[in-house]
Amino acid sequence: MNKTGIIFDLDGVIVDTAKYHFLAWKHLADDLGFEFTETHNELLKGVSRVRSLEILLDIGNIKLSEEKKQEILISKNEDYLSYITKMGPEEILPGVTALLDTLDGLGIQYVLGSASKNATLILKKVNLFERFIGIVDGNSVFKAKPDPEVFLLGAKMLKLKPEKCIVFEDAIAGVEAANAANMISIGIGDKQTLHKADFNFKDLTEISSDFIKELSTIKEKKEQKVEKIENK
Ligand code: G6P
Ligand code: MG
Repeated sequence: MNKTGIIFDLDGVIVDTAKYHFLAWKHLADDLGFEFTETHNELLKGVSRVRSLEILLDIGNIKLSEEKKQEILISKNEDYLSYITKMGPEEILPGVTALLDTLDGLGIQYVLGSASKNATLILKKVNLFERFIGIVDGNSVFKAKPDPEVFLLGAKMLKLKPEKCIVFEDAIAGVEAANAANMISIGIGDKQTLHKADFNFKDLTEISSDFIKELSTIKEKKEQKVEKIENK
């Protein structure tokens, strides 16, 4: 089998922390006096904490000093952590453990590629930390998704060329980052939202061992895209 490696996004792929981000951002919007909805929250998926605050303030049409923004970022994270610290393995999303077992069985290595600065803590809380051979997170990258930096660092950890890497992502920015890195992008979630992905699945329960084996035979992203169109 051709050597491939996998890069997993965390929030929305491994665990559903988006609901906790939503609660923390919503508390903040309530304090600032404007409505923040689940639809607004979609815009923050895959986006760094600092950028999320900018988007949120734009929604509320609010201007704040740098000092106040820093203060808010700290309190938002404290609020978010109050949920995260209560997490356990029962919050691992369906299909994740089975897929990791399949990858272990096939000898395919995997790393994490997340914008979150809390990624290590979350993986430890759900007892998955030890399974990943490396973690690229919000503490190790300078440029946020859709910039490919996070995934290119992941490829280095896997000691593979980018085109040999497969990315699982639930966010538009993440799919764009994977495509920009010339990796095979797999969108997890709504197919229409993630239409730029090379392949789409509702969740990880839909990923079979045969699909992973087939992916390993793809030589180049370009060729695979042609195949995908022919199969439609
Ligand atoms: C992920 C989530 C984003 C979040 C970002 C930063 O990409 O999808 O919603 O803003 O991580 O997370 P952090 O834990 O550092 O605040
Ligand atoms: Mg995500």
